[in-house]
Amino acid sequence: MSNPAPLEAGALHPEALASYWMPFTANRQFKAAPRMMARAEGMHYWTPEGRRILDGFSGLWCCNAGHSRKPVVEAIQRQAATLDYAPAFQMGHPLAFELAGRIAAMAPAGLNRVFFCNSGSEAVDTALKVALAYQRLRGEGSRTRLIGRERGYHGVGFGGISVGGMVANRKMFGAMLAGVDHLPHTHSLEKNAFSRGEPEWGAHLADELERLIALHDASTIAAVIVEPMAGSTGVLLPPRGYLQRLREITAKHGILLIFDEVITAFGRLGHAFAAQRYGVTPDMITFAKGVTSGTVPMGGVLVRSDIHDAFMRGPPWAIELFHGYTYSGHPLACAAGIATLDLYRDEGLFERARAMAPVLEDAVHSLRASPHVIDIRNGGLAAAIELEPRPGAPLARAFDAYLGCWERGLLVRQAGEIVCLAPALIVEESQIAKMTGTLREVLLQLA
Ligand SMILES: Cc1ncc(COP(=O)(O)O)c(C=O)c1O
Repeated sequence: MSNPAPLEAGALHPEALASYWMPFTANRQFKAAPRMMARAEGMHYWTPEGRRILDGFSGLWCCNAGHSRKPVVEAIQRQAATLDYAPAFQMGHPLAFELAGRIAAMAPAGLNRVFFCNSGSEAVDTALKVALAYQRLRGEGSRTRLIGRERGYHGVGFGGISVGGMVANRKMFGAMLAGVDHLPHTHSLEKNAFSRGEPEWGAHLADELERLIALHDASTIAAVIVEPMAGSTGVLLPPRGYLQRLREITAKHGILLIFDEVITAFGRLGHAFAAQRYGVTPDMITFAKGVTSGTVPMGGVLVRSDIHDAFMRGPPWAIELFHGYTYSGHPLACAAGIATLDLYRDEGLFERARAMAPVLEDAVHSLRASPHVIDIRNGGLAAAIELEPRPGAPLARAFDAYLGCWERGLLVRQAGEIVCLAPALIVEESQIAKMTGTLREVLLQLA
């Protein structure tokens, strides 16, 4: 395995880094001490200097099949040379239909129509718009409210931040969408600290939806959107029975239930979709990330067929939904998606994730006695270690832990005061041991 070519002199000079305004990044800190990736393969990254980094986070919750997998790389290369782009509106290309069919075949029964976009944020905005339009089409036009959840992350579009529940992502951006309300989050250190898998306490929090319905009236509510497992605010597993309860209440009141599965779809919890793991079928599922194993941007929404069919009216030449993106169903993304789904199937990667989940669980819970640790949570191939905040310096301790891992050759993710692991589904036992070994060392040395 060859190392990447050495960095050209001056490439890391601060001037060379000035133009790029980096997303969700401490730009000044980064540009003073850059953390660059130059190459990736399997479970590893390499820095421009040739340092090997074990990827404990599937890039950013997305490279579920591991990095630069040959069949996916070749499919993208072939597609770029064959059909680079086809107009997305009023025109098609075979791979988009093939991929939609493949995804529908993996989805819970009844969810068999797929709308493509390019990211999780776009998938969320698409699902919210479909929900509003569907309610109107079925004669329930007064249903314009959307319900999200505290500590939810649904991307960065105005729809997503409105239903999302992360204050830093919301407070700078004005009033956002009108008519949005939020369920309480389900995180409780007092009740559920150090739970393995789904916690016992908290199903009753779904009943808060009845309270919101009593407040606003069901006739004003179009949809509820939740992540089955909240990833970005630190791996919050659904309390046992919680999602079932949400499903019952939404169905009873004619409210659509949307699962945002941008993180959980395509194997993170050992199934194609979290809906299958929890045995709860929503009305729509958003996905992104793992559909192409992070290789080419793609997102989408799985929609119940009768919701889709409600739009199929009017004269045959009429456009049924005034929504879409130039790059919806982009040929390169579709080629990458089909090759990725082949890999998941041929290598049994969802089953592998199920088999490795207890290994990750035991490994992360072995950190319980390490300094600063106040909670450890896990589900499938996702885990979180919550640290006690450093007095007077919120987020600093977890950031130092993140940097400590990086310096020792491990990529993790910081989410607030929480350090998260989410390795690719190809991860080996020895690599999980290395991840927790590194974390143990870092926690010991952390101020
Ligand atoms: C649940 C969820 N929804 C939406 C998004 C937004 O996805 P993107 O960054 O592709 O827009 C994310 C990203 O992490 C996510 O975790």
